[in-house]
Amino acid sequence: MINIAVMGYGTVGSGVVEVINTNGARINQRIGEELNIKYVLDMKDFPEDPVQDKIIHDFETIVSDEEVQIVVEVMGGIEPAYTFVKRCLQAGKSVATSNKALVAKHGAELLSIAAEHNINFLFEASVGGGIPIIRPLNSSLTADEIEEITGILNGTTNYMLSKMFYEGADYDTVLKEAQANGYAERNPEADVEGYDACRKIAILSSLISGQQVDFEDIYCEGITEITVEDMKYAKAMGTTIKLLASSRRYAGNRLHAIVAPCMLYPDHPLYNVNDVFNAIFVHGNVLGDAMFYGSGAGKLPTASAVVADVVDEAKHLNRNIMTMWKEEKLQLEDKADSKRRFFVRIKGDKEKLIPQLKESYGEIEVVNVPELEDEFGFVTPVMMEGDYETRSKLYKEQIVHMIRIQD
Ligand code: HSE
Repeated sequence: MINIAVMGYGTVGSGVVEVINTNGARINQRIGEELNIKYVLDMKDFPEDPVQDKIIHDFETIVSDEEVQIVVEVMGGIEPAYTFVKRCLQAGKSVATSNKALVAKHGAELLSIAAEHNINFLFEASVGGGIPIIRPLNSSLTADEIEEITGILNGTTNYMLSKMFYEGADYDTVLKEAQANGYAERNPEADVEGYDACRKIAILSSLISGQQVDFEDIYCEGITEITVEDMKYAKAMGTTIKLLASSRRYAGNRLHAIVAPCMLYPDHPLYNVNDVFNAIFVHGNVLGDAMFYGSGAGKLPTASAVVADVVDEAKHLNRNIMTMWKEEKLQLEDKADSKRRFFVRIKGDKEKLIPQLKESYGEIEVVNVPELEDEFGFVTPVMMEGDYETRSKLYKEQIVHMIRIQD
């Protein structure tokens, strides 16, 4: 019998218990032994729930019990999760977590403690919920140099942008709807400002580079400035707008990482990823393109990934599955040096402005939305973001909004 403890009986924790109760027989066959939930750690009691028999309130019970070989951490946040996870690993217990904040900040250190103790620290559910992406990067794609990883990594904002695009709804209305449907939190900042996606792309960037990528170093722009008018331009151009989290390799181990709303053309693999779905596009130097698509959040999809990590850990009880992620920090490339096209909305006298804009940016493509009379849009040629910024200083008063284009 393999005993596990679950720390946190919130949405994901109760999902983990449900997945093990629902699919226990099959899971046991796959492990070759019986998986038993010995403890569930939570501050609260759950008198109406059969889980109550396993509820404990003291972490020391878990860490000091030698029978517990695997611990699931689904409390979220940095503390006390970090201290608890570290102590479990130091006590020789493998840990599976869905906690992206913990993994983004302390992943390298926790992996190295797990390696020292010949056990495992796995975190498939921390990025893309139920979509397998961490394990593919660590096993199926190890023959490749990953040159690009670009994802729609936040379901809430993808739901909101899909509604804005397909229904012409405005930002405030779709936010209220997302909150009413339980997709957005009452304080939606982490999702709408891009912070959630930023932590996820920091984890993926660390995995593809093998070094620590700090999310604080990644340029992060959310969706709060996206308007109904932006969506009208997107439609006129045959594009859509998505919140993309992207990491691109330039030379050697140098990465450009960014989170920002971007315009996508229909030939882009992420164009049709709508509603709360997530997807991750990966380009490897020998593989070419691959796409990972599915449920990026929610109780059971996330729990499915956590329990799959538990199964993997149960199959490798005294053997570390090596993950390349050193604590040494990776210096990201300056955003100013990344190249792309830019879509710009500008106010003013069109006849006068167009020749000036051509002189500043080169061969621009003009975009018109007839009902927006006081302004027009244009698309720049491919240029460095730094050059775009320098040239745009001339039009500071006239530029309404800029959205990056993901080709
Ligand atoms: N708030 C996140 C999302 C949950 O909307 O994708 C999963 O991390």
